[in-house]
Amino acid sequence: MSRKLPAADWHPASWQKHQAAQQAVYPDKALLDAAVAELSRLPPIVTSWEIDALKDLIATAQRGDAFVLQGGDCAETFEECTSDNIVAKLKILLQMSLVMLFGLKKPVVRIGRMAGQYAKPRSADTESRDGQVLPSFRGDLINRLPFTPEDRVPDPQLILRGYERAALTLNFVRSLIDGGFADLHHPEYWDLGWVGHSPMAEEYHGIVKSISNSLDFLETVSGRELHHTQRADMYAAHEGLHLFYEQAQTRFLERRNRWYNLTTHFPWIGMRTAALDGAHIEYFRGIANPMGVKIGPGMTAEWLQQLIAVLNPRNEPGRLTLIHRFGAKTIDDHLPRLITAVRETGSPVLWVCDPMHGNTESTADGTKTRRFDNIVAELESSFRIHHAMGSYLGGVHLELTGENVTECTGGARGLTDGDLARAYKTTVDPRLNYEQAMEVAMRIAGLRQTG
Ligand code: PEP
Ligand code: CO
Repeated sequence: MSRKLPAADWHPASWQKHQAAQQAVYPDKALLDAAVAELSRLPPIVTSWEIDALKDLIATAQRGDAFVLQGGDCAETFEECTSDNIVAKLKILLQMSLVMLFGLKKPVVRIGRMAGQYAKPRSADTESRDGQVLPSFRGDLINRLPFTPEDRVPDPQLILRGYERAALTLNFVRSLIDGGFADLHHPEYWDLGWVGHSPMAEEYHGIVKSISNSLDFLETVSGRELHHTQRADMYAAHEGLHLFYEQAQTRFLERRNRWYNLTTHFPWIGMRTAALDGAHIEYFRGIANPMGVKIGPGMTAEWLQQLIAVLNPRNEPGRLTLIHRFGAKTIDDHLPRLITAVRETGSPVLWVCDPMHGNTESTADGTKTRRFDNIVAELESSFRIHHAMGSYLGGVHLELTGENVTECTGGARGLTDGDLARAYKTTVDPRLNYEQAMEVAMRIAGLRQTG
């Protein structure tokens, strides 16, 4: 299928003529159409100027002058859309970014996997238990987790409930930030419970103190308050998987003469939906948002070069972020060849390491987990390989939570397989808990590139 620039041949529903992987099958198309029509009349969750501001920041990171921290749940749930949960997630991201800012000496761009991360790709379309076969759970945007025929039927009303939860989440995040929650003068607002008893507490407080001192110093010499310029912004991201949801909030903005997906600032294309002639690539090529593409061991040089040509034909800075997720054991086999392939295109990309999705494994009793050492090993290899090839690793993509869960093993407290059952809450992939997430941030801060 030929692909031209988004103009006459592209519109928000043109993806429907392509094969769409990982989509739910709705029993009643008329009900789905009605929900999509209702969603398309509702106001946007984000604005085009915020989206363009993030694109500029990503362009800065592409040049090596900023670092991106992208993190949050594997799958958000409607039930966990609570103030405590949102505050905890915001706090952990702010704390991590502070540590990284300190260690990397670069602005850190914060992007949450939040406010819309409700749809999940699955390895199988169905799940069987005791002889009963039902559709797999695909995330709260699509169907419900309990294993009953009623719960697993895709329900079009859930896209409206998801839109509402996403808006509630981002509304609260914005209010907290506007109220000064993210003010660098008051990092004590962000303290989570762990700070009092963690093995890393002293180091963290040292960093906080040193940043406060530098701010005070700068304000003294410049004679003005840095409050506004130093405020930490927060952007939203989710996997752009459910194309009816994405389509419904895609608008043409006359002033900018482009189409924007207004459900989120930064949608990304999952590894399972990046087929060149597939529906997801067709949809993404037409929107103006900065976007991510997950790349795994199966990605070939030609495929990646074609993806870049289709998604960023004008080599626009800030537009494309490649999020690599190979696994600690195979990153050396894949990353160098793909860095070379991208370089051959001459197109700017931001390289981001996702050290989570290539390192998922199962314990003896079948619990999905990730080992902290493998996560750190993949990160270290990423920094090493990019540096050795004269490339810049400009960000990390993590699954984490501000809560004290036990889903990944290892870390400063040495969680073992036997600890996992204690607080295993994720509905899909295992996340770093707040302490493990902070430890990753400290390692990144210490892994500063010398080039
Ligand atoms: C994810 O980010 O949760 C995910 C499913 O990742 P990937 O597409 O890289 O497997
Ligand atoms: Co995941």
